Amino acid sequence: MDKLRIMSVFGTRPEAIKMAPLVKELKNREGIESLCCVTAQHRQMLDSVMEVFGLVADCDLDIMTPRQTLSTITSKCLTGMDGAIERLKPDMILVHGDTSTTFAGALSAFYHQVKVGHVEAGLRTYDKYSPFPEEMNRKLVTQIADLYFCPTKNNRDNLLREGVKDGIFVTGNTVIDALKTTVRDDYRFSTDVLNTLDYDGRKVVLVTCHRRENYGEPMKNIMTALRDLAVQNEDVELVYPVHLSPVVREAAQTYLAGTPRVHLIDPLPADEMHNLMARAYLVMTDSGGLQEEAPALGKPVLVLRRETERPEAVEAGTVALAGVRYDDILRMGNELLRDKNAYAKMAHAVNPYGDGNACRRIADAIEWHFGRRSERPADYLP
Ligand code: UD1
Ligand code: UDP
Repeated sequence: MDKLRIMSVFGTRPEAIKMAPLVKELKNREGIESLCCVTAQHRQMLDSVMEVFGLVADCDLDIMTPRQTLSTITSKCLTGMDGAIERLKPDMILVHGDTSTTFAGALSAFYHQVKVGHVEAGLRTYDKYSPFPEEMNRKLVTQIADLYFCPTKNNRDNLLREGVKDGIFVTGNTVIDALKTTVRDDYRFSTDVLNTLDYDGRKVVLVTCHRRENYGEPMKNIMTALRDLAVQNEDVELVYPVHLSPVVREAAQTYLAGTPRVHLIDPLPADEMHNLMARAYLVMTDSGGLQEEAPALGKPVLVLRRETERPEAVEAGTVALAGVRYDDILRMGNELLRDKNAYAKMAHAVNPYGDGNACRRIADAIEWHFGRRSERPADYLP
């Protein structure tokens, strides 16, 4: 029997981190040829992940340009994908999450009548502009996909309510699979400042902020609140690996540079980031991925967004929405830094997002779908 040709398509840092363990799992299956096509919507931040996880692309569309627009990303991905699909002839294309690469990858697969598996399917806020453009990307991919790999039961229920009838699997999130391979007690950082921080004696606050819907006023509010948190709390060391987007870097320079105890550093390799998170006191972020990783590591998270498509950890009590207003962020940050009881209530490890076996379930589901396995994998229902 011919091997199944399964092509994973991704382009940004978070997609790469979450697809890396799946590409490897598929490689280990005898009946599967695991192919990897990167759009390189991110260049340096993607290359860093490829290096950390030892991935090599079969095809690299190399589309990134400085200050790229949504239209440019989508159109360049679509054009590039034509050649990749014609050359690599996949039986199925896997896309991840909700970026422009995700949407263009799925649309291109459809144009070529290639089946689509959507990894991290079913997340929703039901607000089309928040997150922007991600909420629309993932809804559009839902219309195209054949298989849906939902991290949680709640994600599955969203799809069922929207009328998706077949092909849904609850698998857990592959980010937990990735985290299991990177976090180690004896990890030594290669970024100097991270080795000099006193993680026991000081309160290390790990910050990230990059979302398009936060550009402008919200980002100003977030960053000035973070600055004042550092100024008002002498036991805090605020570490912010700044995304390479020029818009974000300019804002960080304007509002945070030069503030005592604020460390603006370059984006970290994924293993450095995960180990820093494991030692941090508190995480403040507008990232999606960090909202899944930090709870698994027992770290409280304040989300710097108006809403979240990841309500599971909010329900479990380890994640709280701080919003994008200066007063709210400062108040909630100060509460967690100063009130031990408030902190203790949030600082416990929960794993609503997976048990580290998501990739095995996804690979099993693909084999089952193509008639190469007799049993449908059981859903992950913790
Ligand atoms: C993208 C995704 C977003 C995801 C985020 C993860 C879209 C529309 N947005 O947003 O969903 O949360 O990635 O980080 O798909 N840049 C570099 N080098 C890099 C990466 C980025 O220089 O390695 C700069 C470039 O100038 C680029 C800009 O950052 O034009 C913005 O990158 P882009 O992928 O368009 O948007 P993100 O905000 O990163
Ligand atoms: N991350 C990283 N280095 C950094 C910042 C984040 O490796 O300097 C990781 C983080 O641990 C998570 C992922 O990148 O796995 C999240 O990516 P990002 O915040 O860019 O995107 P989002 O999850 O919001 O789409």
